[in-house]
Amino acid sequence: MTDSSRQHIAVVGATGQVGMALCRALNRLGHEVKAVSRGRSANNRNQLDALEALGISPVFQQNLKDIDSMAAALSGCDVAVVALRANARLVRELEPPILEAARLAQVRRFVPDEFGTHTKALEYGVGTLFDAKKEFQEQVFASGLEWTLVFPGGIFDYFLPNLRLFERITTFGNLQCTFPTHAIEDIGTISARIVTDPRTANKAVQMYANVVTQEQLVNELKRIWPDYDFEVEHVPTETILYLKEHGDPARISAKGGSEPDRERHGINYATYVLCRLACLDDLDTLNANDLYPDHVYQKPEEALADPKFVFGEPRPTG
Ligand SMILES: NC(=O)c1ccc[n+]([C@@H]2O[C@H](COP(=O)([O-])OP(=O)(O)OC[C@H]3O[C@@H](n4cnc5c(N)ncnc54)[C@H](OP(=O)(O)O)[C@@H]3O)[C@@H](O)[C@H]2O)c1
Repeated sequence: MTDSSRQHIAVVGATGQVGMALCRALNRLGHEVKAVSRGRSANNRNQLDALEALGISPVFQQNLKDIDSMAAALSGCDVAVVALRANARLVRELEPPILEAARLAQVRRFVPDEFGTHTKALEYGVGTLFDAKKEFQEQVFASGLEWTLVFPGGIFDYFLPNLRLFERITTFGNLQCTFPTHAIEDIGTISARIVTDPRTANKAVQMYANVVTQEQLVNELKRIWPDYDFEVEHVPTETILYLKEHGDPARISAKGGSEPDRERHGINYATYVLCRLACLDDLDTLNANDLYPDHVYQKPEEALADPKFVFGEPRPTG
């Protein structure tokens, strides 16, 4: 990489699952990474140590709503990426001041906290988190900054059947809905290329390599582990429709989940009822397969064949 192609990228939420994978990939590509975190805690110290081992020094920003101090942290950056824990309240509270700070710091490109469902192509009202993300998109579009939206499809850990993050295998709504799903390291690598790519200015990019259905995934799991008796629970469409309106707006009941129950069922509704996790026919959306045809993605069946992925450790027997 030449000095002129080396970019300065701030990642707000650098210690998170998307943030870590993105920081690692940006670092591998030779970019200068500013890893923004609220501070060292029991939850993120391993991640901060791992970033430091790569030569990425964290920038601590205790109050993400402090515009002046955030602007100082973002100063000198070409791109600011937000990959924070997202729920509707946090998106509405935290992202507008971060955008204002990026504007003051004269950051060239702003990448808002998306990294999930293609919210730009959804109408309002599908889910509370999506509505908050869509409202914020409007602010980003009006900000005068260059923008890029990254839509990676579903992360393997949540979208492939496994007993590491879930008590039992659970399917939802329409088993035939197709959706793309990718390993977090692929998401990090492709996101790093997307956010630093001049072709993606004022565009959304959809990752679309592994396109699957729930039925295929559960059949594949059972084929790979024929001796294991998986308990499979199905959540019907009517339950999703009810819980996306009446589920607890504050309680987080999913093992390993970070969004409240009502929001989680909004996500299930978009993915497994509307079949709209991803979108390629939005006019502003590019397909990552066209932009980066050289990238070889991990396949779902590879992850499902890995006992550590499916069962965690130690691996239980039959
Ligand atoms: N496509 C998918 O399947 C999928 C799955 C999950 C999430 N997502 C999306 O990906 C994006 C990033 O999510 P993620 O799962 O990577 O995030 P995450 O790991 O839950 O959190 C990222 C970072 O946010 C900070 N944080 C945590 N709680 C916070 C709070 N209350 N206030 C402010 N900062 C807080 C923490 O950093 P510090 O403590 O270091 O400050 C944390 O490491 C979100 O938009 C989410 O909706 C997509």
